Amino acid sequence: MKTIWIATSNAHKVEEFKEMLVGYEVKSLKDLDQKIEIEENGTTFEENAICKAMSLYNVLHEPVISDDSGIEVDAMDKKPGVYSARWMGDQTYEVKNQAIIDNVKGKVRTARYVCVIAYIDEQGEAHTYRGEVEGEINSHPVGTNGFGYDPIFYYPPYQTTLANVSDEKKNAISHRGKALRLFIEDLKEKEL
Ligand code: IMP
Repeated sequence: MKTIWIATSNAHKVEEFKEMLVGYEVKSLKDLDQKIEIEENGTTFEENAICKAMSLYNVLHEPVISDDSGIEVDAMDKKPGVYSARWMGDQTYEVKNQAIIDNVKGKVRTARYVCVIAYIDEQGEAHTYRGEVEGEINSHPVGTNGFGYDPIFYYPPYQTTLANVSDEKKNAISHRGKALRLFIEDLKEKEL
């Protein structure tokens, strides 16, 4: 069975990848007996995803995947974008979400989630897969599912926020779900 490493220690992400990568042995930073520094100093989702995956590939020389994601708010010049996890430092998402709501008041409310998966194959070649989902910033937080910006991310086809739908409904249309499906298709098609 082919092994694919994931350059993350986030248990939620590892589980999501494991569910999709049937027929592969999926390992993560938790299975490593050494501590490695995962770098993230790019200015695009693609750069960051490749950078994180390469940090692990350079140690293992085995296939590695990594993802980088975030929310782009059009009225905020597409911020927080690649800085979504670090934006406003240690503030809670309650505070961050309210700040976004305040920022878009009286302006265009469109926003999107972006996820880029980088796959470094056995030869060290990088492949990237981008998934996006378009939405709007809701006027107030709604729902308790999901995480991060989901309570304010209104998804028009569902007529509610992504924090107000099941995991299954979110994964069916999400940026991460789309990027993952593109990656799996390519993996099978090209026998990467
Ligand atoms: P990453 O782990 O460096 O890719 O950081 C992604 C960050 O973007 C998260 O910490 C969240 O702030 C935000 N984000 C990405 N995807 C989602 C999502 O599906 N729901 C809510 N927030 C998300």
